Amino acid sequence: MEKIGVVGLGIMGAGIVEVFAKANFSVVGIAESDAAVELGQSNLAKSLNRAVSREKITSEQAADITARVSWGTDFALLKDCDLVVEAAPEIMSLKAKIFAELDSHVKASAILASNTSSLSVTEISQATNRRSRVVGLHFFNPAPVQKFVEVISTDHSDSDVISTVVELAKSLGKEPAQIGDQPGFIVNKLLLRYLNHAVRLIDDGLSTRDTIDAAMRELAHFPMGPLELLDLVGLDTSVEVLNTIYDDTGLDTDGPASGLTARVNIGDFGRKSGKGFYSYEQPHVAATSDDDMAKSRVYVELLNAYLDSAREMRDSGYATESDINLGMKLGCGLPEGPFETIARIGSDRLPVN
Ligand code: CAA
Repeated sequence: MEKIGVVGLGIMGAGIVEVFAKANFSVVGIAESDAAVELGQSNLAKSLNRAVSREKITSEQAADITARVSWGTDFALLKDCDLVVEAAPEIMSLKAKIFAELDSHVKASAILASNTSSLSVTEISQATNRRSRVVGLHFFNPAPVQKFVEVISTDHSDSDVISTVVELAKSLGKEPAQIGDQPGFIVNKLLLRYLNHAVRLIDDGLSTRDTIDAAMRELAHFPMGPLELLDLVGLDTSVEVLNTIYDDTGLDTDGPASGLTARVNIGDFGRKSGKGFYSYEQPHVAATSDDDMAKSRVYVELLNAYLDSAREMRDSGYATESDINLGMKLGCGLPEGPFETIARIGSDRLPVN
C-alpha cells in the first residue's frame, strides 16, 4: 500500500491523516467543503506544531509530513488510493452515501474502511459493490497518541483483506484487535456506558462535574475525568454511539443520559463547539475537589460498574480478556486494563463503604 485516502477531516479524520503521513504514506484528505478542508489542515498543523514544540519531531519532519498530504473536496482525487478510511459523523445515511460514492470513484482493488464508532459495518458495506473489501478500522482520540485500533470484519469480509488491514495497522505502530461487527465493538461499549453513568450521577443530583472528574483522575488514575473525556469525544458522537448500543442491548444503562441529550440539543458538543461540560474559551484546567468522601463514593460506584461490564463482556464471549485489557489501556490511556485492576485489588469489585 502506498496511497491512503481519508474522508472527513474533523479532529479524528485529521488525526488519521497524521498517523498515515507520519508512517510515510502519501495521503489524500477529503472533506465536504473548502471550510471543512481548511479545518482539517489547521487540525493537522496544530498537532504537528505541538509535536515540534515538545521536540518529538523536528520542524523539517513536520514539513515533510505536511508535504505528503494533498487536500480537496472531490472524490475523484481518491481514484488511485489503495485504502480509503471514512471518518464522517456517525449517521448511517451519510456513511452509506459516502461509501456509494467511494465505490464509484476508487479503484476496484482498493479497500474501503469506516472509522465508525459503533454503526454496523455490514450495513455500510451494502452501499457498495465490493462488500468483501469493506472493513471497520476504528481509531481512538487523539489518533496520533492512542495505540489501539479495532479491525472490524463482517460476514462478507475477505480474510485476506482483514489480514492486510491488521498488518497495515501494525506498520503504523498500532496494536490492532480483530472484532466482529457488534455495536460499540470493544472499547466504546465499555467506555460509553461508564461515561453515561457519570452524567447520570449529575442528572440525579448525586454528584458534581468537578467531584466526578477529580475522583477518576486522582483515585482511579485515569488520564481524564469522564466529563472532560466526553467533551473530547464529542457529546453528539457520544449520544449517537449510545443510541446504537441501546438499540442493541435495550439496557437503561446504555440509553443516553438527559444531561447529554440536553447539551447536544442546544449545540454544546464539547471541545469541537467550544462548550460541553466545560467551556473552552480559555485553556482547559483539570477539575479539583477537596471532598474526599464524595470523591471516594463516586470512584467506587463508577469503577465497580465498569468492572462489572468488563466481566460481563468477557463472560459472554464477546471479546477476550486480553483484548479488553489492551483496548482500555491503549485506546483510552488507562494505567491498567479492567482485569488487571481486578487482579490488583484481589476482588471483582471494590468494597462499598
Ligand atoms: N494530537 C496529537 N498529540 C496529542 C494530542 C493531540 N490532540 N493531545 C495530546 N497529544 C500528545 C502530546 O503531544 C503528548 O505526547 P508526548 O507524550 O509524546 O509528549 C501526549 O499526547 C500527552 O499529552 P499531554 O501531556 O499534553 O496531555 P496528557 O498527558 O494530559 O494526555 C491525552 C492527553 C493523550 C488526551 C490523555 O489525557 C488521554 O489519553 N486521555 C484519554 C483519551 C481517551 O480515552 N481516548 C479515547 C476516547 S474514545 C474514542 O476516541 C473512540 C470513539 O469512537 C468515540
